[in-house]
Amino acid sequence: MLSVGVIGLGYVGTSTAACFARKMKVVGLDADDSKAKSLNAGSTDLEEKALSSLLRHGLARGCLTFTSDYDDLVGAEILFLTVGTPSLISGGIDLSQIKSATSALGAVIHETDGYPVVVVKSTVVPGTTRKVVREILEKSSRKKAGVKFGVCSNPEFLQEGSAIRDTLHPDRIVLGSDDTRSARVLRHFYRCFYGKSVPEIVETDLDTAELIKYASNAFLATKVSFINLMGRVCEKLPRSNVGDVAHAMGLDPRIGRLFLEAGPGFGGSCFPKDTKALIAYANGLHVDVSLLRAVDRINETQPSHLLSLAEKGLGRLVGNTVAVLGLSFKSGTKDIRESRALKIIEILIQKGARLRIYDSKALEDVRKILGSSATYCKSALDCISGSDLSVIMNAEPEFKKLKPDDFLRLMKRPAVLDARRIYNPDDFKGRVPLFSVGQSGHVR
Ligand code: UGA
Repeated sequence: MLSVGVIGLGYVGTSTAACFARKMKVVGLDADDSKAKSLNAGSTDLEEKALSSLLRHGLARGCLTFTSDYDDLVGAEILFLTVGTPSLISGGIDLSQIKSATSALGAVIHETDGYPVVVVKSTVVPGTTRKVVREILEKSSRKKAGVKFGVCSNPEFLQEGSAIRDTLHPDRIVLGSDDTRSARVLRHFYRCFYGKSVPEIVETDLDTAELIKYASNAFLATKVSFINLMGRVCEKLPRSNVGDVAHAMGLDPRIGRLFLEAGPGFGGSCFPKDTKALIAYANGLHVDVSLLRAVDRINETQPSHLLSLAEKGLGRLVGNTVAVLGLSFKSGTKDIRESRALKIIEILIQKGARLRIYDSKALEDVRKILGSSATYCKSALDCISGSDLSVIMNAEPEFKKLKPDDFLRLMKRPAVLDARRIYNPDDFKGRVPLFSVGQSGHVR
């Protein structure tokens, strides 16, 4: 049985470790010892479908252990790096976690015989594995890359919330390397893991593999900003609806329907930071990045644009009570990183609105940021009670169940801003003013 290490236990690392443990011996490592301890006890607060049962199976079979001690990785044949790469204030990429993990891995490689391969799964700009990672590893292991150990780039394409499904059924595997032996080790690993269902393995050099990840995320982000731009056009036309535009566009297989949902803009730990990092990186190469800047600008202005839709119909929001439903960056998660709801809340506070907010999962994390600036509600119905405007930020089933009657009965001055297009305007017509993203006017 192949033995592997996974370093960095966010949703990517933990899901990857749990999946690989179905067929390999896996040690997962995180610098946070309490996280490693709870994972060893089979407990996680990550909301990845099927993760808990995979963890339980791996731990019970003795194929999966978690640690914070790099010594426990000695002897592993493949070491997957899945640490975070957040943004610097400049928009560039913060490599501090990559550097400290790589430096510690050097000592592991020093102690490991054979040809261990370090595989960078974290999202890093082209050149990072070839220069930064390889150099640090060589220095701290006192061994030569390509001779005593290998280095690969192997970006992941896992969506938060479906990371297990995406790991077990990937569309493709991107395998970047600058030496044939490293590539052979990783190719063999994936062929063993996936067996007959191995997807296409796209083999490239290190830099290209890293770029493929940025290109993929930036392209999806472009689709989202593009449809939000079309939404803004639809809002100016008397009877247009961005949903019809997206549907018809998506029927063309060259375009595809996915990632054409108009909304409050993209959030999360990946798209906003990766778009900005690609802008900073390509700009540094003197490449004209105006396309990506426009994608970023549309995204950054979408929350205030949405509020302006409601303000056009209702007037200024100063002194109004606004209910914000859904605080995480997308439904089904409690992750509030770069959440558009937080941006909307920030603007509402500046506008002097009073806030009632609700999310079934993310409320406590938001409370740590907003403190007493908002009233924290127990349910969607509680949240809309006594408010002048309800803003729907996520497509949660609990919000979809709300009926015009609920808004009429509970709100002080019923009006709804639907940032995810979850309501049918016909149901609201003549009853509750409804402002939907990508739809002209509002319905009274
Ligand atoms: C994203 C990518 O989809 C993954 O392939 C990638 O591996 C991951 O980033 C990463 O780099 O690690 P994730 O951040 O989980 O995954 O989020 P998505 O489901 O892609 O959604 C991103 C944002 O775009 C969310 O705020 C979502 O609400 C928004 N979105 C998405 C739209 O507004 N409209 C759409 O049509 C699709």
